[in-house]
Amino acid sequence: MKRISSLFLALSLSLPALAHDHNNVEVLHWWTSGGEARSVDTLKELMKHEGHVWKDFAVAGRAGESAINTLRIRALSGNPPDAAQIKGPEIQEWGKLGFLASLDDVAKQQHWNELVPRRVSDYLKVDDHYVAVPFNIHRVNWLWANTDVLNKVGVQPPQTLDDFFAVAENIKAAGYIPLALGNEPWQETTLFELIALSVMGTEAFHQAFIEQDSNALTSEKMRETLKVFRRMKQYTDADAPGRNWSDTTSLVINGKAAMQMMGDWAKGEFLAAGKEAGKDFLCITAPGTANQFSFNIDSFVFFKNGASQTTESQKMLAKLILEPDFQREFNLSKGSIPVRVDIDMEGFDACAKDSMQAFLRAAATDNLVASLSHNMAIGRASQFALFDVISRFFNDDNVDIDETMRHIRAAVLADKL
Ligand code: GAL
Repeated sequence: MKRISSLFLALSLSLPALAHDHNNVEVLHWWTSGGEARSVDTLKELMKHEGHVWKDFAVAGRAGESAINTLRIRALSGNPPDAAQIKGPEIQEWGKLGFLASLDDVAKQQHWNELVPRRVSDYLKVDDHYVAVPFNIHRVNWLWANTDVLNKVGVQPPQTLDDFFAVAENIKAAGYIPLALGNEPWQETTLFELIALSVMGTEAFHQAFIEQDSNALTSEKMRETLKVFRRMKQYTDADAPGRNWSDTTSLVINGKAAMQMMGDWAKGEFLAAGKEAGKDFLCITAPGTANQFSFNIDSFVFFKNGASQTTESQKMLAKLILEPDFQREFNLSKGSIPVRVDIDMEGFDACAKDSMQAFLRAAATDNLVASLSHNMAIGRASQFALFDVISRFFNDDNVDIDETMRHIRAAVLADKL
């Protein structure tokens, strides 16, 4: 009896230590490339410094598609992680199902209402309660170019789609890959989006993909977009199948390819490889989209959790993400711009400064566009369906344009069903 009670005593004495072990937060995300890992490591360190344990659950692949599939399986079997990288309209989907913890007290304490632009905070709330914390604002409509390759070929960075085709011809003739592209559906859809922005213009793009207007989705402008998209294929290389986005960026970094059209997380790869903006590589807006800003906001949500220690860790994580020092550190290496309006851009490179200017300009002229290929415009079901349609069209020259337009319409409208 005495032995049992001393065992209980020993156990209860060790309880605080055990509880302390639970002072951790399991985080599901897809930031696994060189640049991404570098950026998120800063946050892991900060958590450690605050006495919390970051349990990493990174799922690589397909710009989050693999991570989200894993998340679904875990959440539906009653075992969600404590935090997860979810963004755009999908935040609403999870929130409405009652999975997400409220962040209202952190938001109040840290004054999120004053720090985060309204266009951003709308995404973070469900029924007017904060349930997500934002990291950054990525601009998707960029073209990245290897300076050396352009110089050797003797061409200027393309400003318009016509320029692009002229320049690409010369680059091809000189033996380089003009356009680096991996044939994952989301990479192809990113290219499609940037062409659509250019060909359709902001208003028609908005009507089609944001307002989900049936006529706009099958308009002549959509047909033209698909034609230009198909025409670009001849400037990509034969090894595209299965190539992920960061290996694709490496082709430009290493001078095998001249250009890549990709969001500014690509800059993170150039920086991680020790390259300098303006010298080794150029950031130019995707052809014909100088006035537009296709935005992609990364955010974390937190799953409801009964354990008070975990809740504390979750709140600490949410708070750290919006701390000014982290906002600078993270965005300097991630390629995006800070999401807080009060961060000084001193020390950021020309690409980031350009991006900030472009964001403000686009906001003032109604040229801010929620990214179609990065889960900001449409929900998950539509997103996956659209990826399939776009990829099938791009990879098979026999797929009919009219049929594809009907499929695009069906994919985008799937959200409304
Ligand atoms: C996007 C994400 C970016 C970037 C990219 C590639 O969806 O918003 O932060 O990491 O995927 O992984």
